[in-house]
Amino acid sequence: MKNKVLITGGAGYIGSHTCIALHEADYDIVVYDNLSNSSREAINRISTLIGQNIEFVEGDIRDTELLRKIFASHEFFGVIHFAGLKAVGESVAKPLLYYNNNVSGTINLLEVMTEYNVKNLVFSSSATVYGDPESLPIDESSKRSCTNPYGQSKLMVEHILEDLAISDTGWNMIALRYFNPVGAHTSGKIGEDPKDIPNNLMPYISQVAIGKLDKLNIFGNDYPTVDGTGVRDFIHVTDLAQGHVAALNYLDKQINLNESRTIQKNLVGFLPINLGTGKGTSVLELISAFSDVSGKTIPYQFTSRRSGDISSCYASADKAKSLLEWQAKLSITDMCKDTWHWQSMNPNGYE
Ligand code: NAD
Ligand code: WQD
Repeated sequence: MKNKVLITGGAGYIGSHTCIALHEADYDIVVYDNLSNSSREAINRISTLIGQNIEFVEGDIRDTELLRKIFASHEFFGVIHFAGLKAVGESVAKPLLYYNNNVSGTINLLEVMTEYNVKNLVFSSSATVYGDPESLPIDESSKRSCTNPYGQSKLMVEHILEDLAISDTGWNMIALRYFNPVGAHTSGKIGEDPKDIPNNLMPYISQVAIGKLDKLNIFGNDYPTVDGTGVRDFIHVTDLAQGHVAALNYLDKQINLNESRTIQKNLVGFLPINLGTGKGTSVLELISAFSDVSGKTIPYQFTSRRSGDISSCYASADKAKSLLEWQAKLSITDMCKDTWHWQSMNPNGYE
């Protein structure tokens, strides 16, 4: 029988790409999303791409009764938990909203999972839990610290999952710490669709390229980097989606292995894994790559550093390679090409 997986936040940017990768890998999926930062059109497009209607439930992870109903009517192997709010600036202005949605929402989901004895989880964590890293590349044992409510909410959930793993060895949980997801599906049918002016670099660049925004403000050119601008580990969302398939496959394999053992039990517990390419790219390098593939000039100006920004951040991707047998394949050129394809085919996103 195919494994069935609940995808919270599956209508969103990373979730929608992961739905396609899971379908291609022969998983059954049920998407659960309150559409607070996504649209029904994303669901329609996923259905078109996979050639069948996906099962979609419009609901909030804080709605216990609705979650119970969904768990009672399906036999889930596990949950991929994307649902959450993700804007750093907004989280500073509305901390209670972020803690309620991201932390209380996750606790609620975990309680219902416990009730229905579904104890396999892949959680969307973030490289933000490393704060300002002491050394590079960042591996999973690096010190964790956060300075804003969004980051705190991810770190709090990681601590909750760690405690849960200690309290009950039946849990198998992987926290995937994403670096900087960019790009879009090669079809140009799904991609990132920011509701307001983008906070993140790649969608900002592509909206400048399409003429929706005048110019890019580059936040600082005096960092100790190759050209003075910030350096990040950009990862194609399609590679990221494959990382989720690899994580589920890993859980499945470990559980089967465990069931066949009589003496040594070796469940997963809480396992944090970076999903990054291991390579750093500067803001100016990304702009240059985007100009090359789109043929568009990206006007920009240097402004002061953005509060809370760090100089450089890139992953050690060794753990994902050795445990999940996963590594990123797509280049910065692929990331820019697919972003531009999505942006030019959908100048107003899913509208
Ligand atoms: P997204 O906003 O596109 O997707 C999140 C989805 O969750 C949206 O469809 C939204 O409607 C839904 N959602 C939010 N709160 C919900 C709730 N209470 N109940 C049900 N659904 C809810 O964001 P994304 O970029 O796809 O990110 C997915 C996850 O990955 C998030 O948890 C985010 O924090 C994490 N993450 C994202 C990035 C990034 O840069 N995109 C980096 C690291 C981690
Ligand atoms: C990248 C670089 C900016 C916009 C954020 C969150 C993090 C994670 C991913 C979820 C930096 C520069 C940006 C602009 C610019 N999300 N920049 N002008 O800050 O690495 O990470 O998204 O977990 O938590 O903090 O990504 O794309 O915002 O910035 O110069 O208009 O681009 O200063 O150097 P960041 P980003």
